[in-house]
Amino acid sequence: MYGIEVENLRKQYVVREGFRKRRIVEALKGISFRVAKGSVHALLGPNGAGKTTTVRILATLLLPDGGSARVAGFDVVKEANEVRKRIGIVLDVSKGFYMSLSGFENLVFYGLLRGLSLSEARRRAKEVLELVGLEQMGASKRPYYTYSLGMRARLAIAKALLMDPEVLLLDEPTLGLDVESARMVRKLIVDLSREGKTVLVTGHNMYEIEQIASEVTIIDRGTVVASGSPRELKEKLGLLHRVSIRVGGSDRARFVDLLREGLAIERIDVVDEGDALNVSMYVRSRREEVAQTVFDLARKLDVKILDFSIVEPSLEDAYIAIVGGKR
Ligand SMILES: Nc1ncnc2c1ncn2[C@@H]1O[C@H](COP(=O)(O)OP(=O)(O)OP(=O)(O)O)[C@@H](O)[C@H]1O
Ligand SMILES: [Mg+2]
Repeated sequence: MYGIEVENLRKQYVVREGFRKRRIVEALKGISFRVAKGSVHALLGPNGAGKTTTVRILATLLLPDGGSARVAGFDVVKEANEVRKRIGIVLDVSKGFYMSLSGFENLVFYGLLRGLSLSEARRRAKEVLELVGLEQMGASKRPYYTYSLGMRARLAIAKALLMDPEVLLLDEPTLGLDVESARMVRKLIVDLSREGKTVLVTGHNMYEIEQIASEVTIIDRGTVVASGSPRELKEKLGLLHRVSIRVGGSDRARFVDLLREGLAIERIDVVDEGDALNVSMYVRSRREEVAQTVFDLARKLDVKILDFSIVEPSLEDAYIAIVGGKR
């Protein structure tokens, strides 16, 4: 079952330049992707790739020019009302709140607009304020204009959660947040998906995305250029692992020779430290294979592994390999 299905989605913007001239910007040139129910899916791409456009179409705020999209099983054009009942949106963390009302009052007001009774609205507002940590920070009763960016982001997420949506659409929810706030948002996203909510999140921080997203779709200039789990992306690209080993014992030179035979090594540097060898290498072999080979050799030979680490390529390495070199 999918929480979000996007099929050949297209969108053009007509931009007026001066009095008569019009220019057409093809923001989406037919993108497709699917998000499994209850998973966190990241939509990545450079500035202007079409991420916000996609999120706005899925949120029923913008009509597509072609293709189709379903959210929580409903068509975003033909069944927009059904979609709206089932989504929570964060588009711009600093928009959509009354400056002079407190966070709590803003949420109660929004809950009333969405059809909750006053007591329900108050109860839900309190719940979600606790969920995002604003209650604990003593901020929920302060006027919104006194909120820091981090507090605003938390409140925007609280608002998205108010109606207990099935699907969350989060456009750069951690933009400008400090380390602790960003971490809290990441944890919240993962917790929500564990509860069964489907989350589509956009962003630029690859470290962050790698920690939370099970699937990634990378778009560039309105086209999907890669997709898969962070791990699959790295494997598809054949990215190299960085391996360091410090090895002692009388067979240490032989150990290094056999290592060269057993693994797909791209580059290797060996530094003789007197009683040990310091080996650092770039390896194409899979992580498990590297570990297996090292331990097998260590068992057979008279060597002592003093230190051993495998640094996997990051999602950022994959991202740069896919979109980095093109512009
Ligand atoms: N309202 C608009 N009118 C005209 N062109 C637009 C409009 N909104 C977006 N665009 C253009 O559509 C393309 C996609 O923009 P979009 O905002 O979806 O990108 P994005 O991936 O969200 O980028 P960013 O990382 O900068 O937020 C860009 O070329 C942008 O200039
Ligand atoms: Mg954007």
